[in-house]
Amino acid sequence: MKRFLLVVLGIAVALSSAFCDSKLIGVAMPTQSLQRWNQDGSNIKAQLEAKGYQVELQYANNDVNAQVQQLENMITKGCKVLVIASIDGSSLTEVLKSAKENNIKVIAYDRLIMNTPNVDYYATFDNFKVGVIQGQFIESKLGLKNGKGPFNIELFAGSPDDNNATFFNKGAMSILQPYLNSGKLVVPSGQKNFTTIAIQGWDSGKAQARMDNLITANYAKGKKLDAVLSPNDSLAIGIVASLKNAGYGTAEKPYPVLTGQDCDKPNVKALIAGQQSMSVFKDTRTLAAQVVDMVSSIMENKPAAVNDTKTYNNTVKIVPSFLCQPVFADKTNYKSILIDSGYYKESDLQ
Ligand code: GAL
Repeated sequence: MKRFLLVVLGIAVALSSAFCDSKLIGVAMPTQSLQRWNQDGSNIKAQLEAKGYQVELQYANNDVNAQVQQLENMITKGCKVLVIASIDGSSLTEVLKSAKENNIKVIAYDRLIMNTPNVDYYATFDNFKVGVIQGQFIESKLGLKNGKGPFNIELFAGSPDDNNATFFNKGAMSILQPYLNSGKLVVPSGQKNFTTIAIQGWDSGKAQARMDNLITANYAKGKKLDAVLSPNDSLAIGIVASLKNAGYGTAEKPYPVLTGQDCDKPNVKALIAGQQSMSVFKDTRTLAAQVVDMVSSIMENKPAAVNDTKTYNNTVKIVPSFLCQPVFADKTNYKSILIDSGYYKESDLQ
């Protein structure tokens, strides 16, 4: 009997120390249907494993309940840190309570997690600057600074459940609004407020449908469309499809200035073909490296490196953040930004 108890005790100690010493990190990504998240997930996993961590990587197919379930499993499995790119930033309050109860640290990845005290760090790109870069691109392409105009523009915004979408929009409008006020920029559809122009789920098909309606209702009688503000590439690719179907891309009906973000492969091809004008580049390898750095600091009980402790208020607290810097790619510089940097191979863009 005594021998049996000793064996059980031995096993219990072994199990608990394995649990305590676990280097298991949970990585929750929103979907695989948008190119960048596949790169984000594999970059983080590879870099963490290279540092000796085990990684539980999950994708949730843009299904909020599935993501909550995946996070609950990661907590049960004893993950020490959760790296979360949320689908709906406001839907994780309950599951993060349980993470806290289990002393699990949480890093919000790319998108801020809202309405909870149980998020420790935020790693992302300067989201306001992303919008500023898109607004400045339109400003320079149309020659607005030199007093040119008026020009016709239509506006799109990202998914309303994604906190980034408001930052992108505010950044772009910080450049474009003065021209709307002065009449140098006109929105023939009249659709300007965020809720009206937001596309749920960053869905290409919904963006294409909205662009179809805007063209039918406002540009059928030959009115010129000079620019379209698209906050990212999944929307831009839908907008390009709509413009193509409406006969844009000729000398009489040239493609409007069209922005984007993420430098997804189909969109870089559209850039090269002159259908899209630019895409904001956010090197997912850089963001992954920053997050891996944060994980290591947390695992060594050290404060993680942050460079912004003011901007990101999730309605409960200011979340200490690290902002990486975005740049943009267009027809003139995509080779140096995307191929010379090793982000893509030449063959990826053919
Ligand atoms: C945003 C992200 C963008 C874009 C978009 C759609 O949160 O910052 O890079 O990918 O989601 O996935």
